[in-house]
Amino acid sequence: MESSGIYKRHTNNKVLRRMNQLNNLQHKFPVVDSIPKSVRLPSQIHQRVSLVDGELKLWAGATKKTLSPIWIQQPDGSLQQVELGSYPVMGEKESDEALEAAVRAYNNGRGEWPMMKVSERIACMQKFIQRMVEQRDLIIKLIMWEIGKSLADSEKEFDRTITYMRQTIDALKDLDNANSRFVIAEGTIGQIRRTPLGVVLCMGPYNYPLNETFATLIPAMLMGNTIIFKPPQFGTLLFEPLLEAFRDSFPKGVINTIYAPGSLVVPHLLASGQINVLALIGSSKVADHLKKQHPKSHRLRAILGLDAKNAAIILPDADLDLTVKECLLGALSFNGQRCTALKMLMVHSSIADEFVNRLTAELAKLKVGMPWEKGVFITPLPGMHRTTYMTEVIEDAMAKGAKVVNLEGGEFCKTMFYPAVVYPVTEGMRLYREEQFGPVIPVSVYDDIETVLDYVTTSDHGQQVSIFGSDPEQIGHLVDPLVHQVCRVNINCQCQRGPDVFPFGGRKDSAEGTLSVHDALRAFSIRSMIAAKQTDDSKGMLASMVSEHYSKFVNTDFIF
Ligand code: G3H
Repeated sequence: MESSGIYKRHTNNKVLRRMNQLNNLQHKFPVVDSIPKSVRLPSQIHQRVSLVDGELKLWAGATKKTLSPIWIQQPDGSLQQVELGSYPVMGEKESDEALEAAVRAYNNGRGEWPMMKVSERIACMQKFIQRMVEQRDLIIKLIMWEIGKSLADSEKEFDRTITYMRQTIDALKDLDNANSRFVIAEGTIGQIRRTPLGVVLCMGPYNYPLNETFATLIPAMLMGNTIIFKPPQFGTLLFEPLLEAFRDSFPKGVINTIYAPGSLVVPHLLASGQINVLALIGSSKVADHLKKQHPKSHRLRAILGLDAKNAAIILPDADLDLTVKECLLGALSFNGQRCTALKMLMVHSSIADEFVNRLTAELAKLKVGMPWEKGVFITPLPGMHRTTYMTEVIEDAMAKGAKVVNLEGGEFCKTMFYPAVVYPVTEGMRLYREEQFGPVIPVSVYDDIETVLDYVTTSDHGQQVSIFGSDPEQIGHLVDPLVHQVCRVNINCQCQRGPDVFPFGGRKDSAEGTLSVHDALRAFSIRSMIAAKQTDDSKGMLASMVSEHYSKFVNTDFIF
């Protein structure tokens, strides 16, 4: 497959690689004085509180240092990782306290929060949003420093979250207003509304620590559930500026935090049998393990965003300018650390070399640097375990016959990893099936479209695919089998979750439940109804309940 001279052979020569690292990537890290004042954090955050039962409880026990993906060049030529602060490392006892507070606040559905009118819950959430917006600048900086996301994308993450929260409130108003009427069927009068499920355990991922956490937490709260929230391992401190706002905006015990190793407290929480909903964005292996801990698993609803290995199917007649642009965006936005990232490019053999040439040429133009630099695309990864993993999968592919075909592909220094295009990737290499979740782009070649359909069909994942081509007949015929394998087929564009009003789901190991502004409200609630015979007595009874406001459930109020 090595047909043109532009490919640089990835070298196993460790000395040469080490020199390259020092020459090229070390200098991407800043010296301290070069960091603009406007993007610096005002100070380290040493968090010593957690929010439980409406109180910010002081913690005097063990703590964990928060280290940034960003390193600083020292005068002696070494690099030092930036320390951002620290947070509590709690245990089962504290997770029990959080659980008890959430269970008490729910009080079998009779707590203040689940019994509140929808309009009152919305008012609490609006107060919270206002307080959250006041923290915009600090939270954006924390996203950037904690996970290495570019400043522009960190801003986008914050603003998208606020928009999502406002859209969720609007969707809830619509839902509630649509249910503010009686229905009559076969002589029965009914009123059907959505009601909460109980205690929700919410865990978000490190790659969208704010946005994807709130994509479940906010609708879960708005529907009247109470929450235990465990922040992600990377992206913990960014919630600290919100703790007081949570405390002040909602009744006590509605949201409780736990800062503890997930492997310790999460199975323990589930084993209590008192968690009604598990909201997790993470891996299918972890999700399977956790669900089994619940003593009555049928009582546990799971809303899960899991693994994915979205493929791009590049047909012989694809517009290569557009395809290369979308594939690079799809594979490398936030360094490929998106569940929706394109993690396998499958290209027809007739255009494979040309595609790879263009892809590597465009990749070389992407700016590598610190998250605050204008136009930066490639930034440091959250930990050195990630660069180790990327190296392992590349070396596995090379040992089995693939090459790294872009200059400096796969070289790294500390957390900075230069993206690698690995070509051709075939069955049997780890990169063919494993979700790399990082800046490695596997390219495989096919002759027969059935190979591609077989790849998608036999995959353990079922989130999305992208098709690139220009023949409506061929694409139309491909869409039909593919929509039965994945939940979104993108035509001539990369895979992605948004706009957030669209359903976001997956088949097989990729998800359980569907999220979107509208779907999430349904996911965290269940319909309940009243029913009465269509008699004069019943009509009188219901009319009186409504006019005298005897019930919050049976009402015809309209929320404006
Ligand atoms: O990491 C998975 C996210 O849901 C991807 O979201 O497509 O908006 O980047 P996105």
